[in-house]
Amino acid sequence: MAKGDAVAVSGYVRGAAAGISDGSARASGEAAISWMRPPALGSRRVSTLALDRKPEVDEEEEKGPSATGSAGGGNGKKEISSYWGIVPAKFTKEDGTEWPWTCFRPWEAYKANTSIDLTKHHDPATFLDKTAYWTVKALRFPTDIFFQRRYGCRAMMLETVAAVPGMVAGMLLHCKSLRRFEHSGGWIKALLEEAENERMHLMTFMEVSQPRWYERALVFAVQGVFFNAYLLAYLISPKLAHRVVGYLEEEAIHSYTEFLKELDKGTIENVPAPAIALDYWRMEPGSTLRDVVMVVRADEAHHRDVNHFASDLHYQGRELKETPAPLGYH
Ligand SMILES: [Fe+2]
Ligand SMILES: [Fe+2]
Repeated sequence: MAKGDAVAVSGYVRGAAAGISDGSARASGEAAISWMRPPALGSRRVSTLALDRKPEVDEEEEKGPSATGSAGGGNGKKEISSYWGIVPAKFTKEDGTEWPWTCFRPWEAYKANTSIDLTKHHDPATFLDKTAYWTVKALRFPTDIFFQRRYGCRAMMLETVAAVPGMVAGMLLHCKSLRRFEHSGGWIKALLEEAENERMHLMTFMEVSQPRWYERALVFAVQGVFFNAYLLAYLISPKLAHRVVGYLEEEAIHSYTEFLKELDKGTIENVPAPAIALDYWRMEPGSTLRDVVMVVRADEAHHRDVNHFASDLHYQGRELKETPAPLGYH
């Protein structure tokens, strides 16, 4: 990537981060157009964003795929991506090194707000609240027995479940928006953001704990049950479904606090933070697993707030779309 492009991307990273924190998706959209034309594949410059213009192609491409072999042959990947006008984008970090991740991009990284109140709790007052609360408490019992004090493994396994509700709820709101020809108030995106954030927790903990074969089998079975159970719960009562997640997040905060205690006692080794965590949470070089658990716990506290808030809105007889969604709430 040329030096000029690197500077543009660095500027973009800072700009996009500001855009996310104030909930402005527009800022990142505008900035994206400014850099999505890197000369990533030699002389081929194709903008996939300028839909109203004919893409610029070089002479070789004008001759068509047959001139250089079939679209699937010859240079393989390079030919195919050029043919469809998709240029693999390259980014640089603020220190000038190449962005190593394809699973998330610089503008999705953020600094976690670890000053969030971890002790907030919704007192279960109604029958539905108590149902949600005791369901979560009951689920914790077998979890404690299964994992004991293996908090690294516990975190990894629980994140496989935690990433489901946001996706299910987002999908259902998406379908509802289509059926009713109405806006979502940003809630689809907010819930999908939550699901993605939880999945990044999993991608991070995978780096410090590897699942055994029977744990993989357990995830397979649990996902089958939990996905369908949550789907059904959300269809019947979104207020209950969001409340359940609110309480699950309260339990997650508790689990990560126990994780931190074990790290401080030295029973779990405080290894260096995985590289993916350093970039995703914009952590300082030299950060450790303890720092990672701190930021993940802060994320869980934000999920707790979002889901209890969503449940409260339903309790007030409102639809989520009536209130702007807490987009980029980290
Ligand atoms: Fe999580
Ligand atoms: Fe969470």
